[in-house]
Amino acid sequence: MTLREGITEASLAIARRDAETLLAHLLHQDRAWLIAHAGDPIQPADHESLRTLTARRAAGVPLQHLTGAQEFFGLSFRITPDVLIPRPETEHLVEAVIAWASTQPSQKLRILDVGTGSGAIALALAANLPAAEITAVDLSPAALFVAQANAKQLGLMHRVRFLRSDLLDALQPELAAGQRFDAWGLQRNRSQAWDAIVSNPPYVAQTDAPTLQPEVRDHEPHLALFAGDHGLAIYRRLIPQAHAALLPHGLLAMEIGFGQRDALTNLLSEPNHTWKDIRFLDDYAGIPRVVLATRL
Ligand SMILES: C[S@@+](CC[C@H](N)C(=O)[O-])C[C@H]1O[C@@H](n2cnc3c(N)ncnc32)[C@H](O)[C@@H]1O
Repeated sequence: MTLREGITEASLAIARRDAETLLAHLLHQDRAWLIAHAGDPIQPADHESLRTLTARRAAGVPLQHLTGAQEFFGLSFRITPDVLIPRPETEHLVEAVIAWASTQPSQKLRILDVGTGSGAIALALAANLPAAEITAVDLSPAALFVAQANAKQLGLMHRVRFLRSDLLDALQPELAAGQRFDAWGLQRNRSQAWDAIVSNPPYVAQTDAPTLQPEVRDHEPHLALFAGDHGLAIYRRLIPQAHAALLPHGLLAMEIGFGQRDALTNLLSEPNHTWKDIRFLDDYAGIPRVVLATRL
């Protein structure tokens, strides 16, 4: 049997592209190599492994859990069931922060990624903002383990500090003790240490769980997906915490879920923390996907 015939056999149960990706993964090659060598014989052990992976994929296991990898912002990330699989929509959030950074007077920006998961956002920012000082937090120790492995694999370990924290809680003592000088030479307020806070938090309503694709609901960490009855529980806590921790004119950049634009506008308009320049960016499907707000 040839590689092509192996793919054709697997394609009876799963998408052909997935079959190609799985066989390429088994052979430690890329899909371009596979296409060029489609007429080569498939070894019996590889054929057996392809059948096993095909059966798991057909049973709904995400492709990334079978290959252990996902590309994000041009970087290859190691993925396990402990972390959310980075989504292409989240690249809009990274792009927005990079664009904002290019307008800042100093590139020595202190950026915090809240809910880092695989480290996708923090590491993409580290790779593209060489002078930035980046901290990444997550509540899940297992996720932080994966994020740190990704930092090592990408040669970015020295660029990102990882910390276990419930949102910004673990950073509070550090903020209270810190006396820093900002890019404009002004002494920062003791509790306002960040130039930007970025987050792709959990935002799915718990009540929407039955409507989620089983591939997502049954295989991705619920801590990464769900945020209370309306999906807003994390935003409600994060927005005031971010306001207290950002430098004046600092940026809050967050991914939002489908239909959450009005709710986020309301949360960012509450009187006890004031934001300006609240703006939403659409994803390629025309859905508001990113909210940006500047701290007053
Ligand atoms: C939607 S995932 C985003 C992962 C990654 N940033 C990305 O964009 O692919 C949300 C992440 O937030 C983390 N998380 C959930 N609740 C948290 C909390 N209270 N404090 C810190 N992190 C939290 C989850 O463990 C998960 O890794």
